[in-house]
Amino acid sequence: MKKIGKIYCAILAGGTGTRLNSPVPKQFLEVCGEPILIRSIKAMFADSRIEELWIGANGDWYDLALNQIKEFIGNDERLHICRGGEDREGTLLNILDSIKSNNNIDNDDIVLIHDAVRPFATKRIINDVINEMQFCDVCNTVIPVNDTIIRSDDKKTVSGMPDRSVLFAGQSPQGFRIKTLINAFDSLDSETRKKLTETTKVCFVQDIPIHIVQGEFFNFKITTPYDMQLAESVVIYKEAAGIE
Ligand code: CTP
Repeated sequence: MKKIGKIYCAILAGGTGTRLNSPVPKQFLEVCGEPILIRSIKAMFADSRIEELWIGANGDWYDLALNQIKEFIGNDERLHICRGGEDREGTLLNILDSIKSNNNIDNDDIVLIHDAVRPFATKRIINDVINEMQFCDVCNTVIPVNDTIIRSDDKKTVSGMPDRSVLFAGQSPQGFRIKTLINAFDSLDSETRKKLTETTKVCFVQDIPIHIVQGEFFNFKITTPYDMQLAESVVIYKEAAGIE
């Protein structure tokens, strides 16, 4: 079994949400009276083992993030904020740099990376990821794929139908031993890094074993206007069902 050292959390809030088409990036919009970013932070803090949580936010939205934290959370010494990057991985790298500059990272320390636009991570998922980190250095949260997946190379005709029973969709939080992740990023040239849109893939391409734990269908990433309406329903559903 691997030891688990200090547990950090990185909340990626540097996106602009082009697909939602709102003047304010989606992570700062309210769902049932509370901003999505705040809901995501609170979801992660539901596990008291998270000792330090970093948020990466960009441009003018950096101050908005600070203001929302002040209004909805108040002072919490575990909370820190830094500038985001050009893409999701860029924001993550800035957060990792900030964590490194402010701490002595130990070999056992882990980071849980979470999308600011996934406000419905549950205590059970976070607990499963942390527990699984006793057996691996990288862990992803996934859900089974319910629809048949169709591959179309020309985008007009069907070229393949992979076996659905071995297919899963990735979610977050994703757990990493911090040093493993930093080393994996350091081994990539910048061209390859740009092409990797998924953090666990940075480790996958370097043959680092990645474990998986089960997510939830309602732990979805808010992406489109439809998702905003769905999010309101999930808040109501989770409250009624008593899901933390
Ligand atoms: N993200 C980030 N920094 C960026 C880009 C994205 O931290 N430069 C974050 C987003 O804020 C979000 C997560 O990565 O929490 C997942 O990205 P996605 O849903 O694609 O968000 P956006 O990039 O904001 O959306 P879109 O692709 O529609 O523009």
